[in-house]
Amino acid sequence: MRLKNKVAVITGGAGGIGKATAERMLEEGAEGILLVDLDQESLDKPKLELDSDKVYTFAADVSKSSDVEGYTKKAIDLFGRIDVLFLNAGIEGEVKPMEQYPEETFDNVIGVNVKGVWLGMKYAFPYMRENGGGSVIITSSVAGLEGTPNVSAYVTSKHATIGAMKVGALEGAEDDIRVNSIHPSPVDNRMMRSLEEGFAPGAAEEAKNKFEQSIPLGRYGKNEDMADLVLFLASDESEFITGSKFVIDGGMTA
Ligand SMILES: NC(=O)c1ccc[n+]([C@@H]2O[C@H](COP(=O)([O-])OP(=O)(O)OC[C@H]3O[C@@H](n4cnc5c(N)ncnc54)[C@H](O)[C@@H]3O)[C@@H](O)[C@H]2O)c1
Repeated sequence: MRLKNKVAVITGGAGGIGKATAERMLEEGAEGILLVDLDQESLDKPKLELDSDKVYTFAADVSKSSDVEGYTKKAIDLFGRIDVLFLNAGIEGEVKPMEQYPEETFDNVIGVNVKGVWLGMKYAFPYMRENGGGSVIITSSVAGLEGTPNVSAYVTSKHATIGAMKVGALEGAEDDIRVNSIHPSPVDNRMMRSLEEGFAPGAAEEAKNKFEQSIPLGRYGKNEDMADLVLFLASDESEFITGSKFVIDGGMTA
């Protein structure tokens, strides 16, 4: 019951990592969870599968301030507070060299992956301060630590989230708001299927094998691996941890 008496907001809550994390949080006694994702249709599936009256959903685009204000207020209306804010929504953009990378895609990726994180903290912090603290977890990536050719927008965005995480940790500390980031290697879910196809059109399986060979433990991460780390950072077990980067990559960046 490591999340007993805690309520959480999860953005990207209809996606692979978001849903797996909600499941783990429920197993550990979370009092309530608000899943946030782009549209209600995509949220209906995890709501149905998680099959719990503790799970609520809210459609919002995390890159739009009015939507972020909306999901924050929804959480406060439902729970009266936010203990855990998992800023996890993200998009991969396209796989193209910088010279050919569409500017519009770059703006979208930065809007969701960076501004979405910044807005999340901007709107939740006042409530978290009032409530005496909380834990914010930001999903970055190994792409926030190292470069990879042909995914410039994604790599740029995931590096930028580290800056947001550090400032959030420093500004939140006086009120016991902790902010940390997680840095997964490839995870076996939709986003990697899309990137495999982008890196090797028509030969996604080969691309997967190549990625896996770059991971010393020999496999992609699982959504559940990520959920376990998020759970630790959400729980009081990590109460002295803030401003830190948690690499979860099977040794990939070692
Ligand atoms: N899958 C991987 O290999 C991998 C590796 C490292 C980091 N990550 C990061 O993990 C996070 C979660 O992704 P995932 O792996 O579960 O993939 P996913 O595509 O299954 O989940 C991402 C979710 O974010 C949602 N989303 C996208 N744009 C949004 C917006 N503007 N507003 C609200 N929701 C939006 C999507 O609808 C989707 O449900 C992302 O930030 C991603 O960059 C993923």
